[in-house]
Amino acid sequence: MKSADCKTRHLVVDPVQPDASLIQQAGAVLREGGLVAFPTETVYGLGANALDARAVAGIYLAKGRPADNPLIVHIESHRVLTRYIDELPPVVSLLAARFWPGPLTMVLRGGRSFPPEVTAGLDTVAFRVPAHPVALALIRAAGVPVAAPSANASGRPSPTTAAHVLDDLSGKIALVLDGGPSGLGVESTVLDLSGDQPVILRPGGAIQRDLEQVLGPVELDPSVNGVAVAGDRPRSPGMKYTHYAPRAPLLLFEGRDHERVAASVLADARRLSAGGTKVGILAYSETAPLYDGQGYSVVVPGKRSEPGTVAALLYESLRRFDQLGVDVILAEGIIPDGLGLAVMNRLRRASGGHVITV
Ligand code: TXA
Ligand code: MG
Repeated sequence: MKSADCKTRHLVVDPVQPDASLIQQAGAVLREGGLVAFPTETVYGLGANALDARAVAGIYLAKGRPADNPLIVHIESHRVLTRYIDELPPVVSLLAARFWPGPLTMVLRGGRSFPPEVTAGLDTVAFRVPAHPVALALIRAAGVPVAAPSANASGRPSPTTAAHVLDDLSGKIALVLDGGPSGLGVESTVLDLSGDQPVILRPGGAIQRDLEQVLGPVELDPSVNGVAVAGDRPRSPGMKYTHYAPRAPLLLFEGRDHERVAASVLADARRLSAGGTKVGILAYSETAPLYDGQGYSVVVPGKRSEPGTVAALLYESLRRFDQLGVDVILAEGIIPDGLGLAVMNRLRRASGGHVITV
């Protein structure tokens, strides 16, 4: 395990045409059992050689990740799957043709080639082909499948820049490849194809409507709309933990009428602020002016009507509240549709279940 207490190298790479010699260096670090953070089109990942149990164990150590939360194996092409999975369901090639490279993770039965550190002992493996030139070049240079969770300390918002990675993991990983901000800002959609019916375990970059064009109706796992109740055994182990959380507690206000949502946020902000609490507000362009000039720390990731923009800036915005040093965050919700479903899933999880329906 090479994760503990090393000096983390920071290498800037061109996100479109990454320098081959830098990528070769990073590939060699992976092959030798080290940890490399790298940009993907969703968020930054923390990679290790997926066939090397010790290297993968280093990921859990560096992140402080619970051992029962399995990892996604990143591969360069769907053609590689036949090396690891004996019987591929026929929909896999249809989905791969439409969504790979891209923000879709497929959970498949089998995959005995991987150590239990990758699968957390499950009889399924999650695979994804990322759509980022740096990620693809790195996987090719490493010459091995790359196990990679998001490159944040466990429980924290996922990183969308190399600076976020260094904030959480500096001194704990060998190298970060800095390719600038990742584009989408929320993680891949995790789709379970191990049962009779496909199930979305985590909403993300590949939206339900588009998946349904290929698959017909797709079920959402119950954990998608909230935090799993203690004692539940979720199909996606990662869904049971509070996650994506800034340092201050976050209260989420949900409702279709955004003026009522904002009125409710404002009432709570006034009450808390009168009691001496430093209030942060996550708002959108449509309602942000309502909170002006009253001493609140307002962060605006974009327009409510443009969930893609909100997704791209969501984690950056949550991390911003840490710098502002607020005591509490009151967050407006958006409509949970398309990428908005991924945004709301992350905000619900960040709230640890503290959701107020307006
Ligand atoms: O966009 C992404 O998916 C990013 C980039 C780096 O690729 N990765 C990422 O990994 O978000 P991570 O570890 O933060 O989230 C992986 C999710 C977790 O919720 C985990 O429980 C689930 O995928 N998962 C992994 N393997 C699984 C399996 N065999 N069965 C069910 N869920 C699985
Ligand atoms: Mg994560």
